[in-house]
Amino acid sequence: MKECLKLISERRSITFFDPTRDVPDEIIKEILEISSTAPSGYNIQPWEVIVVKDKEKKKQLKDICYGQQKVEDASANIVFIANTRAGFEHVDKVLDSWIDLGYIPAENRDALRERILEGWKDKEKAKRKAIRDTAFFCMTVMITARAYGLETHAMEGFDEDKLKEFLNIDREKIVPVVLAIGYKHPQKHLLPRAYRFKFEEFGEII
Ligand SMILES: Cc1cc2nc3c(=O)[nH]c(=O)nc-3n(C[C@H](O)[C@H](O)[C@H](O)COP(=O)(O)O)c2cc1C
Repeated sequence: MKECLKLISERRSITFFDPTRDVPDEIIKEILEISSTAPSGYNIQPWEVIVVKDKEKKKQLKDICYGQQKVEDASANIVFIANTRAGFEHVDKVLDSWIDLGYIPAENRDALRERILEGWKDKEKAKRKAIRDTAFFCMTVMITARAYGLETHAMEGFDEDKLKEFLNIDREKIVPVVLAIGYKHPQKHLLPRAYRFKFEEFGEII
């Protein structure tokens, strides 16, 4: 319990990564698979990722991220992609699994399929759903990475059009966030954590 709270409360956005330390592909895959236990509406899992590790490609990505040096110094950058058509593309796998596991009787399949897809027909709603679930996934990756002794830095500072062109990402899909991941530079120190709003400022219990 205490360890878990530390993983969350001591997470920082790491500006200085150690450029000499690599995170093996297998570890990155493990982190992503564990994190894919994150929840999503009707378990549709509308996320995709492209992990940019190649040195030359990281340099190109840095330019697309407005020159943010951490992109080049981090061992890898995970580009999170929200698939706005995931409802249609994933629904059958989700339903197969629910029927196999006995969540729902087979005769309910068609009605439930229709209900799930209803939420994905409207483009604006589909965007919101895809981005929301992908953000849950990204946050889970940030915490899981810390359990592996790694640090991360989420970024919204990038040219999305250029990024889609660079990585050949379908124009209908959305890139909500790029996450640098790696080891913190041992000699660099971050400033203390900046102000966080108190519960009374952002919440109420009624
Ligand atoms: C979605 C998202 C986008 C962000 N984009 C950037 C960014 O492009 N560049 C940057 O330096 N920091 C970025 N940040 C980091 C925030 O500035 C940082 O989380 C915030 O200042 C709080 O600091 P902390 O994470 O160390 O507590 C981003 C954070 C999030 C969650």
